[in-house]
Amino acid sequence: MKIIGTGSSLPKKVVTNDMLSTFLDTSDEWIVTRTGISSRKVISDERLEDLAVDAARKAIEDAGITLDEIDIIICSNVVNEFVTPGLSCVIQRDLGTKVPTMDLNAACAGFIYGLDFAHGYSMVHKDVRNILLVCAEEPTRMMNWADRNVCVLFGDGAAAVVLDCTDKENDCIKEVKLSGVPAVESLYYKRNLEPTPFITKEKEPVPITMNGRDIFRMATRAAFADITAVFEKAGITAEDIDYFLLHQANIRIIESIQNHFGISPEKFLHNIEHLGNTSSASVPILMDEMNRCGRLKKGQKLIMSAFGAGFVSGAAYVVWDK
Ligand code: UT7
Repeated sequence: MKIIGTGSSLPKKVVTNDMLSTFLDTSDEWIVTRTGISSRKVISDERLEDLAVDAARKAIEDAGITLDEIDIIICSNVVNEFVTPGLSCVIQRDLGTKVPTMDLNAACAGFIYGLDFAHGYSMVHKDVRNILLVCAEEPTRMMNWADRNVCVLFGDGAAAVVLDCTDKENDCIKEVKLSGVPAVESLYYKRNLEPTPFITKEKEPVPITMNGRDIFRMATRAAFADITAVFEKAGITAEDIDYFLLHQANIRIIESIQNHFGISPEKFLHNIEHLGNTSSASVPILMDEMNRCGRLKKGQKLIMSAFGAGFVSGAAYVVWDK
């Protein structure tokens, strides 16, 4: 299996740190120093499914194939306006195709999980030609915008990749390591459900609640462990890698991984400055940016790694073959 097309789509509304400090007790200086984020893009009048479909169309065009060559759509998503059907069904409707679709929720690690599950699916279903993996996220709709601990961190966006499964001899997904430890209380969001005549529980809707320090600690540990496991399985070291595409949650987390491995900062790509944390879309948006500006070249060795609520994490070693 290999990645043959990438696409992404972002909301038009740019929200700067200075804009946040007009209604929050925060500052550009605090946010930049603690997170590396200067601005983020936030959904205003767009629908998430429109961003997802735009990203998908761009990825299909980049792959040089047609929509009827896609055999399954997988969508990684944490929240959107539909609880059911899955966002992948809405994407299918709007693209105008008829194929199996499924959603997965591995929080911000959804791209790595999607890649691994697509890889496994392609091995079982040998007649599958191309898989469309879409990551579409609007985390800004889950939070209390009066909570400065959380709302400064996130932005919205969508990204997609086309995975070609036809070249069985040349598998570019070399190794994947997925991990999980129970830590629900460290980061969660509970939605409102409808009342019933029988419900006796208190209603407890809760916007995103996060213990930032816990997540920071778990993230650095997990990323280091997952990437090390991938290196060991593949028989390579950090020196062999051309680029690291890590989840864009906090520039200090990225720097901490970089310091762990003692690798030059130029190898650690980032766009957190202008997008913030776009949940599972963050790694594929970054990949699409780098693909489109010509930075990714055939044969380059890439490490992708992400983590999120759960606590779940994963890393993938991919050789770029496009
Ligand atoms: O995809 C996974 C999503 N989540 C994450 O990746 C989060 C990982 N964690 C982090 O990125 C960091 O822990 C944060 C950026 C969330 C916080 O940075 P920190 O260096 O861990 O700061 P802190 O939580 O220890 O807070 C330090 C101070 C506190 O004030 P006091 O108690 O020392 O007086 C906070 O109340 O900074 C305060 N603070 C803020 N001040 C200005 C927290 N948020 C803000 C803010 N502006 N936005």
